Amino acid sequence: MPSHTLWGGRFDGKSDPDAFALNASLPFDRRLADQDVRGSLAWAAALVEAGVLTRPEGERIAAGLEQIRAEFQAGTFTFAPSDEDIHTAVERRLGEIIGPLAGKLHTGRSRNDQVATDFRLWLLDHSAKIETAIIELQTALLARAETDFGHPLPGYTHLQRAQPVLLSHWWLSHFWPLQRDRQRLHGVRQRTAVLPLGCGALAGTPFPIDRAALAQRLGFRLPAPNSLDAVSDRDFAAEFLFFASLLGVHLSKLAENVILFSSSEFGFLELADAYATGSSLMPQKKNPDVFELARGKAGALIGHLTGLLASLKGLPSAYDKDLQEDKLPVFRAADTLLALLPVLARALHTLTLRPERMRAAIDPAQFATGLADYLVEKGVPFREAHHLVGQAVRLAREQGTTLAQLPLPGYRRVHPAFEADLYRVFDLESNLARYRSEGGTAPEAVRVQLERAKSALQSL
Ligand code: ARG
Repeated sequence: MPSHTLWGGRFDGKSDPDAFALNASLPFDRRLADQDVRGSLAWAAALVEAGVLTRPEGERIAAGLEQIRAEFQAGTFTFAPSDEDIHTAVERRLGEIIGPLAGKLHTGRSRNDQVATDFRLWLLDHSAKIETAIIELQTALLARAETDFGHPLPGYTHLQRAQPVLLSHWWLSHFWPLQRDRQRLHGVRQRTAVLPLGCGALAGTPFPIDRAALAQRLGFRLPAPNSLDAVSDRDFAAEFLFFASLLGVHLSKLAENVILFSSSEFGFLELADAYATGSSLMPQKKNPDVFELARGKAGALIGHLTGLLASLKGLPSAYDKDLQEDKLPVFRAADTLLALLPVLARALHTLTLRPERMRAAIDPAQFATGLADYLVEKGVPFREAHHLVGQAVRLAREQGTTLAQLPLPGYRRVHPAFEADLYRVFDLESNLARYRSEGGTAPEAVRVQLERAKSALQSL
């Protein structure tokens, strides 16, 4: 087995190569390289301030770490077979550059507080990128709501035509969940920015480290208050995965709607060629693969969350190697979101609208609620009005006609409160305009909502 592990002293030097490979996390935690160097730079500075390292020692260590950082950035860093994880690799390389002094960097520190710190730093870095990508998608939804203003379509419940709504209102219904996702991400960031470094393996550090200053130097809000908790806490990772799962659920819902609306059966939207794919067999096909993948990937996002929770459940405190299983699900979830969000945003921008198809799908039956409201205005209690309109629906069906064509005598047989002016209920524009209370689908209310969404996008 490779020599140069960080823990070889009590071992006879022979470990099964497959066991070493199983144990190693380098294949995935090399992504923490930058965070590991930053954490080590801050730790070296804290050791100098605590009087554990002399200033010149601190400077030589920092110079070595800076060189390592440059090697990672230039892609010239070479890993050794003995590098079990990124922490081992950085410390091994530091030894090659500055000699035995490198051995002083790990004073009072453990990989347990180190990895928890690196991982939190990584999440803080990447959550900012993810938020930017969410904002891109929200911006696309806002742009659609703005340019598609005024077009009505049927709103659905149970996937059955229900009441007409404005398309802009519908676009905005996908904007707000993303706003909540961003708020959730902010909450995750708050709780992620609590510093484990200085907690050692589990008991804290015996050296006089100023952990508050260390936290500040690394951009954390405060030091973790309990060393046992700090090295084993992965709440931030689980919370991030919940955030990612729920965002995935929101994206899958948006995607499913676009898939349905772009099918021939609905035909409300058409995908741009750049975001659709063909069939290898059927030349006429234009498939919404991008949206299907958005829908499908929500499954794996949820899987990452449940996988991590299952790994965490029932662990004895404090650090256990099970915790090494925290990284892949988080990396994969972040990668998925960063791959998906920008493509979805661009695909939405390029959708073509078929307003005539949307309008044609609005049939008189969708004004039945308006008809009940009409009776309410004439003093009929809503419950009774609902029942009476139901009778009119049945009558229209029996006569092979629609509510809009059912002659007045038929209506008056149902109830004398129906008068000749009832047919105004079927005017689409005035029907929409009635829903003008806050959050409703009237053009007037949607305009207000649009402005509110724009300022919400800026204000978070
Ligand atoms: N690679 C390990 C991880 O990701 C680092 C911590 C190792 N600590 C230990 N006591 N073996 O969790």
